[in-house]
Amino acid sequence: MEKEPVARISVSLNRTLLRKLDRMVREKGYDNRSLAISGMIANTLVEHQQELADVEAAGTVTLVYDHHKPHVQETLTELQHDHLQTIVSTLHVHLDHHNCLEVLVVRGKASALNAFANRLIGAKGVKHGRLSITTTGKDLPA
Ligand code: NI
Repeated sequence: MEKEPVARISVSLNRTLLRKLDRMVREKGYDNRSLAISGMIANTLVEHQQELADVEAAGTVTLVYDHHKPHVQETLTELQHDHLQTIVSTLHVHLDHHNCLEVLVVRGKASALNAFANRLIGAKGVKHGRLSITTTGKDLPA
């Protein structure tokens, strides 16, 4: 197979992020920065495809937030009450005086899980959030 031609792009990053990227490249043993970034982009594209899919999926939404920030708790509770069919279970851990960790186990169309997760993660006061989509297992052999 003929090798696909390579395109060069230029990306602007802040210095701290670049330093951290270069450290990760070394720690993970990539030959160079471009290979590491290509791999990260490929992973994100796969995730993106999964998120758009019209298939039944299960997953977890992980959220970290400071419960002292105004309205964050109310917003997250409202959103969850509006998605009763999607949420299977939730876990709340008080990490320290300020920070809460919340994990929601969710189930539904992958695209719907993604839309719901984006609203949770995008809520004002949420410091970090991540959706991890997995299969319901039905279509996979043991
Ligand atoms: Ni808490």
